[in-house]
Amino acid sequence: MKHKLLLILCLAALLVLPFSGVLAQDEMEQPLIGSWESCPTPENLPETVTMGAIFGLSEAVSVYGTVQQQAVQLAVDEVNASGYLGEGTTLEFSFEDSAGNRDQAIAAMTKLVEEDGVVAVLGPTLSSEAFAADPIAEENGTVVMGVSNTANGITDMGEYVFRDSLGEAAVIPGTISQAKAILGLEKVGVFYGNDDDFTVSGYDVFVQALQDNEIEILGEETFAKGDVDFNAQLTNLINQEPDALVVSALAAEATQIIIQARALGYDGPIIGGNGFNSPAVLRDTGADSEGLIVGGAWNYGNPDPTDSSVQFVEQYEAAYDASPDQFAAQAYTGAWLLASAVRCADSVDRTEVRDALAGITDFDSPLGVFSFDENRDALHDPIAQIVVDGAFQPLAVVMAEE
Ligand code: ALA
Repeated sequence: MKHKLLLILCLAALLVLPFSGVLAQDEMEQPLIGSWESCPTPENLPETVTMGAIFGLSEAVSVYGTVQQQAVQLAVDEVNASGYLGEGTTLEFSFEDSAGNRDQAIAAMTKLVEEDGVVAVLGPTLSSEAFAADPIAEENGTVVMGVSNTANGITDMGEYVFRDSLGEAAVIPGTISQAKAILGLEKVGVFYGNDDDFTVSGYDVFVQALQDNEIEILGEETFAKGDVDFNAQLTNLINQEPDALVVSALAAEATQIIIQARALGYDGPIIGGNGFNSPAVLRDTGADSEGLIVGGAWNYGNPDPTDSSVQFVEQYEAAYDASPDQFAAQAYTGAWLLASAVRCADSVDRTEVRDALAGITDFDSPLGVFSFDENRDALHDPIAQIVVDGAFQPLAVVMAEE
């Protein structure tokens, strides 16, 4: 098993293609994202269209929220520079920090929707925050779009709740079947946070996918949000000699789980859910995360990116001197989707914006050609990834060459 993993890592290092095809600055007048022809330039919008965004901008969750805010601001600047909402109309976002806290998310949503009267809201970052705060938007007939919520049941909260983030259920089954194909998994240990909506959903989906792939679960262990010592549970799992550790955790706990598993001498594969899908996890774990397998909605090294993905990467890197991650791609797409709904509605009436958003199909985006399904959930292809040389690389590139 170890030899096979090493071979895969070497192959991946050789096969991953360099990112190419970046547009020159002077080719950037009309962003490639969106469906520009599907709706005419609006004529009836006010001078300022104000939307809200609730992201985790402080505390542990800020590894996701900071890049989400940057990506939304990039989209806003592009919308305004391109005149997407018509001459004389400016898009603005009011950003609120929920800090990963349900009560702060509720307060932020109440302020944006009931006091500020925003047209629509992006966020909150965490599914647990969304379950607490989104009902306020729903009750007020205001669109809320999750751009990183991946728990089961988010859009079941109501007709005004959308998300452009693929749920765990849309990503994990493919990740597990691909991991089985290349690693020959037969038996695993499962570790998950049992007090968070997202980590519990990830666990449920992992277990189903493992059963569907006839992979034996040797043992299960749990932790709570904020825990820092995982040695006892990891020891129990590692002693059963699993082919892989399967983990559902947010970034702070994911980071320590990787480090502590390696310190205990475990050098086999680790398979993580959406919480692992941040460069911050790789930065903080260094060589310990080599071989980590994580499903996602977008990858920087996708060998076949959309034109709008290529342009997004170029613009994001120029603006922030850093490469975007999946959370940035989803937030950027989310802001453009809301702008598109306002453009197509030619109105800031919240119900008309909701209906226009629900009607969006085949939207060119960094995530791929994007549509909402009948439950207002994201429809596009997921991508399985493996960490090679400290970066997430597409697993399919490796599989295609096997
Ligand atoms: N995907 C994580 C969640 O839904 C951030 O909470």
